[in-house]
Amino acid sequence: MENNIKNFKNIFAEDIVSQAFAHARVNLIGEHTDYTGGYVLPSLLPYKTSVYISKNRNATYAVYSEFFKKKIEFNDFMKSKTNEWVDYVKGCLFVFFDENVKIKNAYINIYLESDIPMGRGIASSSALCVATLKALNKFFGTSFSDKHIAVLAQKVERNYIGVSGGIMDQMVSSIGIHGKAFFLDCLSLKYEFLEIPLNWQFCLIDSAVQRNLRDSSYNERHEQLKNAEKILGVEYLGSVKLSTFNNNDFSDEVIYKRAKHVVTENDRVLNAKKYIQNNNLSQFGELMNLSHYSYSNDFEASTEDVDLITKRSVESGAAGSRLTGGGFGGFTVSLIEKTNYGLWYKNMRKHYSEDKFFTV
Ligand code: GLA
Repeated sequence: MENNIKNFKNIFAEDIVSQAFAHARVNLIGEHTDYTGGYVLPSLLPYKTSVYISKNRNATYAVYSEFFKKKIEFNDFMKSKTNEWVDYVKGCLFVFFDENVKIKNAYINIYLESDIPMGRGIASSSALCVATLKALNKFFGTSFSDKHIAVLAQKVERNYIGVSGGIMDQMVSSIGIHGKAFFLDCLSLKYEFLEIPLNWQFCLIDSAVQRNLRDSSYNERHEQLKNAEKILGVEYLGSVKLSTFNNNDFSDEVIYKRAKHVVTENDRVLNAKKYIQNNNLSQFGELMNLSHYSYSNDFEASTEDVDLITKRSVESGAAGSRLTGGGFGGFTVSLIEKTNYGLWYKNMRKHYSEDKFFTV
């Protein structure tokens, strides 16, 4: 924080006027259920992005990223052709000013600092958007609620960046509380905080598979699920109960499998919520394993490396282990009883280096 204040002054020769931060998240269970009007159960990670803002007196927008050690200046909010990190900031400015017709575009300096591993399925881009919008909200005194900020952050990703994501990441990043699970009904945006029992530990392992094809595969899954909704004649798959879901409704096996994942996953999230409330984390772990099986086999969003991590994790004593986030690589999340943690970690370290482990 002290360093950031000093750096800000060195780079922009101005004092910080507003600042905000937002955390990355891990999704404990409930994958691809958000944009289909279902349920999710994420939780915040300790990693965060901080955004600092001051006035800019040179009639330009200037953004500095501590991670890239790069300053970029611009005068309009046109997206770059090559998908640059700064596009997320431009997108936030675009959406924010679009929302506030009364605010005259005031030129500002923006400083970004983050310790969130990027492109690994723990929502680094949502944290960047939420933190930027919160800092703008303070700077311009617009008093938007945290829920409103989450909705605007989703607009940035959907309408400006062009990824057909849901609302989970933005909601938990904007509203979540560290150490608690965040149960969200993605249709009504009603949420509840659930206590994670202290004798259990979630731990992430990085499969080190970088993004590349992930956005296009994500968008493809999104389309397949929207197709399934059309076939079933429902607005959202989230409204389809497991008891009425029937494979005879589908002529396309692939679309059926994608929909099956979502319908069974919603059921698992609701049961997972009950298990966490009843302090029954062994059963919660079992649901994580079933969720991974479904994500890997029906949704076909896993990779060999990821499947191996989850298998080894359970063999090493985890109650449950699954791929977390949008799919196609990234992080796995495992649930381990604290009394087993030392042994689990020792076993897993035989296969994975220390820098691959991230505790929640
Ligand atoms: C990404 C998206 C979320 C959600 C997950 C999959 O993280 O941003 O909205 O769809 O994938 O559960």
